[in-house]
Amino acid sequence: MSVEKEILQLRKKIQRYDYEYYVQARPSVSDYEYDILMKRLEALEQEYPDLITADSPTQRVSGRPSKEFPTVRHKHPMLSLTNTYNRQEFMEFDQRVRSALGREEVYEYIAELKIDGLAVSLLYENGLLVRGATRGDGKQGDDITNNIRTIRSIPLRIFKENNFPAAFEVRGEAYLPKASFERINENRLSRGEAPFANPRNAAAGSLKLQDPKLVAKRRLEMFCYYFYTEDDRFVKFSHQENLLLLKEFGFAVNPHYEKCRTMFEVTAYVEKWEQKRHTLPYEIDGVVLKVNSIAQQQKLGSTAKSPRWAIAFKFHAERAESRIEKIIWQVGRSGIVTPVAELRPVKLAGTTVARATLHNSDEIARKDIREGDFVYIEKGGDIIPKVVEVIKEKRAPQIRPLSIPKTCPSCGTPLVRAPGEAALRCLNSRCPEQVKRRIEHFAGRGAMDIEGLGSALVDLLVDQGLLKDIADIYELKKEDLEKLERMGPKSAENLITAVRKSKKQSLTRLIFGLGIPFIGITAATDLARNFKSLKALMDAKTETLLAIDGVGDKMAESIVSFFQQPENRALIHRLIQAGVQTEQEESTPKSLPLEGKSFVLTGTLSGLTRVQASELIIQKGGRVVSSVSKNTSFVLAGANPGSKLQKAEKLGLKIITENEFLNLLQRGDF
Ligand code: IVH
Repeated sequence: MSVEKEILQLRKKIQRYDYEYYVQARPSVSDYEYDILMKRLEALEQEYPDLITADSPTQRVSGRPSKEFPTVRHKHPMLSLTNTYNRQEFMEFDQRVRSALGREEVYEYIAELKIDGLAVSLLYENGLLVRGATRGDGKQGDDITNNIRTIRSIPLRIFKENNFPAAFEVRGEAYLPKASFERINENRLSRGEAPFANPRNAAAGSLKLQDPKLVAKRRLEMFCYYFYTEDDRFVKFSHQENLLLLKEFGFAVNPHYEKCRTMFEVTAYVEKWEQKRHTLPYEIDGVVLKVNSIAQQQKLGSTAKSPRWAIAFKFHAERAESRIEKIIWQVGRSGIVTPVAELRPVKLAGTTVARATLHNSDEIARKDIREGDFVYIEKGGDIIPKVVEVIKEKRAPQIRPLSIPKTCPSCGTPLVRAPGEAALRCLNSRCPEQVKRRIEHFAGRGAMDIEGLGSALVDLLVDQGLLKDIADIYELKKEDLEKLERMGPKSAENLITAVRKSKKQSLTRLIFGLGIPFIGITAATDLARNFKSLKALMDAKTETLLAIDGVGDKMAESIVSFFQQPENRALIHRLIQAGVQTEQEESTPKSLPLEGKSFVLTGTLSGLTRVQASELIIQKGGRVVSSVSKNTSFVLAGANPGSKLQKAEKLGLKIITENEFLNLLQRGDF
C-alpha cells in the first residue's frame, strides 16, 4: 500500500473512532488500539511532512499561541434568547405565537435543554472546518479557530460518505462537562488561584486562552443546535430535521430534545428536567422552546435582539438558605490554609449540607462573609457546596468582619502569601496538622490503603506522639496501640496486620502516597512505569523527568525539589529499612485488564476524585461512559448516588463500591 493511502486510511479510522468516543460515547476500540493507530499516523506524517493536512487528527492542537484574536463579522447576526423565570410569561409566549400565526394554524415546538456554556459559530467549506468564532456582541466575535479545533467532538472534516453543501454554518454551545469543571477548579485551588464560578465562565475562559495546547487540556465539548446553508438541496422544513442532519454530519446533538404539541407537554418537559438536571454530566440552566417549522419561524421573525419563535425558561440555581455558625481555617497536607464554613445543616439538591468551602481570604473579602451571617449556598459544579451570597438584610448589627489569621491555627507559625497567590500557607513542614493530613493521605484508599488508619486515629496517634511522619507507621507496636483509648487488643492486631500488608503496595501507590505537590495518581503511574524504583526516581534529573509523557515543568520541578530535601530522603531511607516495597513489581507486559470494559461513575467517592478514578480506569484499558445501559460492565457507586444507580439496579448490572474498585484494580482480575 502506498504511504498516501495508508495515511488516508488511518485518518479515516481515527476520525470514526473519535466520533464513536466523543460524540456517541460508544467506543468500539480500546485506548490501546487507538493509540497505536495515532502513533503510526504521527510517525508517517513526521517522515512525510508534505502529506500533513489541516484536517488530520494529529493537527487538532496546532497553531502558535496568539496575542489577540482577530475580529470576525457574522454573516447573520447571532441572536440571543428572551429569558424568563416566570411560568406566566412562558404561557404568554405561547399566546403570542398563536396569535401571530393565526388561530387556525397548527404549530409544534421542539423543547431542548439550555446548556450552560457559550455560543459558538462554525463555518465549513467543502466539508472542512474553516472558522470557529465566539458570539461576541452578536454581530462580531473573536476568531478562535485554533482553539475550537481542539474540541474533539467537532469534526475537522465532515464524513466523506455524506453528501453535504459546499458551504454551511453550524452553531451550538461549547461547554465544560461537570467532571472537567471540577478538575480545573481543583487544580486552580491547589495553585491558590480563584476557582471559576460556574462551567460557563470556565468554558469562556478556556476558549479565550491564547495557547491551543492549554485549551486542549480543558476538554471542552460542544452540542450543536443550528444549521444554516444557502444550498436549496439542504434547506429543511423543520428545526428537528436540521438537528437530524447535524447528527448525520457527525456533530454532537443533545439527545434530550422532545417534540411538544401543547403547553402541557412543554410544562411536563420543564418539570422533568428541573428534577433531573443533577443526573446530567454537564450543567443546564433551563429549557429552550423553539417553534419547529422553519416557515413559521420566518413568519414570526425576530426583534433586533432575539427571535420571536423561541424563548428560554431559566431554572433557578438550586440554592438553600443557611447560617454560618463558625468559620474554621483548615490546614491541608501541603500547608495551604483554607477557610471552611460550618453551616446549620440544610437539604440541598438531595443531600444534607453542613459545610461549605470559602476557597480563600480574597473570596471572603469579595463576598464580605462573616461568622453568624445568613447565606445562600449552592452546589458548585456537581458536589462541593459553596457560599454564593450573604443575605445582608439579615445580618445582625453586632456581627464584625472576619479577621484573617496571621499565624497557623495548628502550629502558630506566621502564615505567608506567595506573590500573586490567593492562598495562605504554613511553611512549617513539621506543623502537626500538616503531618496528620500527610499521614492520612499516605494511609488513604488511593495510596497505601491501610485499613483502619483513618483521620480520627491518625489525629490521636500524632497527638500521643506515636506518629511524627509516615515512616513511623511501620514502627508502631501492638503494645503501644493497645494502651490507647478505644483500642482493644483485637483492633490493635488488625491495624498492625494492615500496616504490614501495605508494605507490598505498588510503587505507583507509594509515589502517590508521598504527597509530592502536583503529583496525582496519573503522574504517579507514569513515574512508576518509567523509573521502576523509588531510588531511580529520587535521583532523576529534571531533563529525564521532562522526557516522560505527561510530566510538565511544574511536576518535574516539584519532584526534584521534594527529593532534594534531606528530611524526605531520610524518610524514604527509613521506609526501605522497614521493608516497604519500593520497586515496581515484575510488570506483566502492559496488561490491560479492563480492555473492553465500560464504567459508569455515580455519587461522591471519598479516597479518589472522580477524575482520578476515571484515569485509573482508562490506564487499564477501560472506558468511562456517562450513562448506564445494558452494555455497561460496572457501575462504581459512591455516596449519595444519583438515578444512575437505580437504573443500574433495574438492569441488574454489576455495582461496586470504591473499595471494591481499588481492590479489583490492584488484583487486576475483573
Ligand atoms: S438557540 C436564536 N438553543 O443560550 C437562538 N441557545 O440565552 C439562538 N443556549 O446565546 C440560541 N442552549 O448560548 C439555543 N439549546 C439551545 C441552547 C442555547 C444554550 C445559549 C446560547 C444562547 C443563549 C441565549
